Amino acid sequence: MTWEDGRPLWIFGYGSIIYRVDFPVEDQVFGYIHGRRRAFLQHSHDHRGTLTNPGRVCTLIPHSEWDSMFPNEPSDPDTVCWGIAYKVKSGEEKRVKKHLDWREKDGYTEDFVNVFTEPGKVAVSNVLVYVGVSNNPSFVGVSSMEETAMVIARAEGPSGTNREYLFKLCDALRFHSKQALEPYLAKLELMVRQLIEESK
Ligand code: SIN
Repeated sequence: MTWEDGRPLWIFGYGSIIYRVDFPVEDQVFGYIHGRRRAFLQHSHDHRGTLTNPGRVCTLIPHSEWDSMFPNEPSDPDTVCWGIAYKVKSGEEKRVKKHLDWREKDGYTEDFVNVFTEPGKVAVSNVLVYVGVSNNPSFVGVSSMEETAMVIARAEGPSGTNREYLFKLCDALRFHSKQALEPYLAKLELMVRQLIEESK
């Protein structure tokens, strides 16, 4: 599936697109997608890190792939990923799509998802989402939470510190609903805060 110019454009944000909305929107829906979990397993060479010291940003991992990558931390197939679906302002779709393709150029490709607000209720269908699939050049692969937290605590790039990416994401999810912050994110946030404290 692809987005066709002239049609409404909905974007599902699950990482920086949740809290850095640098495009005009005319509607938004806080909801979730099925079948994938959020993970900081995408290198960031252009936003939250550099070519030589990449940071870590989010991608979405299908539950089935997660289990083969992390057999010791099996994924719950019923776990959902919360985020925000934005309807791009009418007439601005082509420009915004071009801008987001540029912003998400470090390994992300397009996919389309259904966004739910409650079980069995599709609130918006065919929503564009940028995903770093597991064979993209910036995909990290298997990496422990400890290693991930250490990179996030230290990295910095043209868009700011890597820790700011994580904290803003957690704050934005919490702001909308406590249940939106999955245990993985809450644990990572705690680990990064501890590393920062220890380094003072
Ligand atoms: C997203 O936010 O939806 C994509 C990943 C990112 O840019 O952080």
